[in-house]
Amino acid sequence: MRATLLAFSAVAISATNLFVSDYSGYINTFSLTASNGSYNLENTFSNTECAPNPSWLTLDSNRGLLFCLNEGLETVNGSLSSFTVNRNGSLTHIKNETSIIGPVNGVIYGEPAGQRGIVLAHYTGSAVTSWLLDGGGHFELNQNLPYTLSAPGPNAARQDAPHEHETILDPTGQYILVPDLGADLVRIYSWDVVTLKLKELSPLKAKAGSGPRHAAFWSPYAVASENSTTFLYLVAELASSVTGYAVSYLPNGGGLTFSEIYVSSTYGMLNLPEGNAPAEIAVSPDNRFLLISNRNNTSFSLPQTNGSAIKSDSFSTFQFNEDGTLIFHQLWPSGGSYPRQFSVDKTGSLVAVGHQYDQNIVILERDVATGLVGEVVARMPTPGNTTCIQWNE
Ligand SMILES: *[C@@H]1O[C@H](CO)[C@@H](O)[C@H](O)[C@H]1NC(C)=O
Ligand SMILES: *[C@@H]1O[C@H](CO)[C@@H](O)[C@H](O)[C@H]1NC(C)=O
Ligand SMILES: *[C@@H]1O[C@H](CO)[C@@H](O)[C@H](O)[C@H]1NC(C)=O
Ligand SMILES: *[C@@H]1O[C@H](CO)[C@@H](O)[C@H](O)[C@H]1NC(C)=O
Ligand SMILES: *[C@@H]1O[C@H](CO)[C@@H](O)[C@H](O)[C@H]1NC(C)=O
Ligand SMILES: *[C@@H]1O[C@H](CO)[C@@H](O)[C@H](O)[C@H]1NC(C)=O
Ligand SMILES: *[C@@H]1O[C@H](CO)[C@@H](O)[C@H](O)[C@H]1NC(C)=O
Ligand SMILES: *[C@@H]1O[C@H](CO)[C@@H](O)[C@H](O)[C@H]1NC(C)=O
Ligand SMILES: *[C@@H]1O[C@H](CO)[C@@H](O)[C@H](O)[C@H]1NC(C)=O
Repeated sequence: MRATLLAFSAVAISATNLFVSDYSGYINTFSLTASNGSYNLENTFSNTECAPNPSWLTLDSNRGLLFCLNEGLETVNGSLSSFTVNRNGSLTHIKNETSIIGPVNGVIYGEPAGQRGIVLAHYTGSAVTSWLLDGGGHFELNQNLPYTLSAPGPNAARQDAPHEHETILDPTGQYILVPDLGADLVRIYSWDVVTLKLKELSPLKAKAGSGPRHAAFWSPYAVASENSTTFLYLVAELASSVTGYAVSYLPNGGGLTFSEIYVSSTYGMLNLPEGNAPAEIAVSPDNRFLLISNRNNTSFSLPQTNGSAIKSDSFSTFQFNEDGTLIFHQLWPSGGSYPRQFSVDKTGSLVAVGHQYDQNIVILERDVATGLVGEVVARMPTPGNTTCIQWNE
């Protein structure tokens, strides 16, 4: 954790860095300082070497590296860039490589102490790609896996083609899951341990027209083993639903099977507002709660100190039952418009949110004991539509 702890009198000051990408071309470093119960955000560094349209940041904390995806909103191709994370929170560019258009998410896979790779989901490019990593921030293309649809899905406007949206490593590190918003699938892969070439296995079929976007694994005992109880929670953007599945591991790396155990709207039992589009999903660090961000519906109006009010989208928090079903716990303002992505800090006491439409980042308090998200403690504008925010802890 890059934190400075200075203790004098009874006041402790601590600083943590956050990396924030936005569509106007920037990766900004923000330093969050906490002092005697109040917080201050400062923009300490700006980097434009993932331009033109940074969409996602994958931190490789153990090696002090950051990978950034450029979606390529108005270009023919996208790209993958790597950076060294310096002690002071600045970034040094290592490499940029042209890719298939539209990468929006990436995850590192392979052998922790051996050959590793990064796999990317390409939304516009209808593809999954994998790249071999050398450990020092250099990488090269390993595999392009393009997909097509024989006919558009039920939501023809959004399901005109496959749209790979996220890459998720299962808790045992043996499989990669890729929700495909266009094809109503969660694609599943294992890989060759030497070449790291992906091998496609039998997918999870989501409800037709639902538009799977992001997902999170949960194990009630926080044990990552193919023999312990494991659940998957899938957020579907078009249906605005969260579906829970009990996950079973087939023998000999044969894949995963799923049995649906829970489904509700991302508003739980509350009335789902028109146009709601959930985005991100995450399990709290204490393994007791599930958080989902809701975009595109201004459910809240937040009064400002100057007398005006801002419209805000929301967070839904669910509590886990041991059998994998969910209890709706809280609907709470995210502090702005279009919370495309959020990250909970390691302690579970702060939630950092990237608001795509408001072009800002917001830090909210979270009560670890009750699992309730609380007040906005810091807010800062970003130069463009915010796409991703990651704690560097
Ligand atoms: C810390 O905050 C408390 C409550 O706001 C205040 O009473 C106290 O004076 C502050 N201490 C310092 C050293 O600023
Ligand atoms: C990286 O590659 C992309 C795609 O070719 C290109 O548009 C972009 O300008 C490159 N960025 C840098 C910093 O070289
Ligand atoms: C931050 O660290 C980098 C790499 O060590 C160095 O080149 C740069 O000058 C530092 N910047 C500041 C403002 O300290
Ligand atoms: C760039 O995009 C073009 C057009 O889709 C594609 O044919 C080409 O393979 C892409 N380049 C790379 C390096 O992926
Ligand atoms: C899981 O259980 C099977 C059957 O009992 C056993 O063969 C396998 O080694 C176990 N796997 C792990 C990771 O414990
Ligand atoms: C939010 O939901 C309400 C109630 O369903 C609806 O009237 C309103 O149009 C929605 N707003 C947006 C921006 O979608
Ligand atoms: C946002 O809501 C509006 C109005 O309900 C709807 O037309 C639009 O498709 C929604 N956008 C997304 C990205 O879901
Ligand atoms: C009040 O503050 C908000 C930001 O909190 C700002 O967007 C708005 O323009 C301000 N309104 C006035 C009347 O100053
Ligand atoms: C950027 O945000 C504006 C609202 O501030 C929105 O109208 C526009 O569609 C967004 N564009 C992208 C690419 O996110």
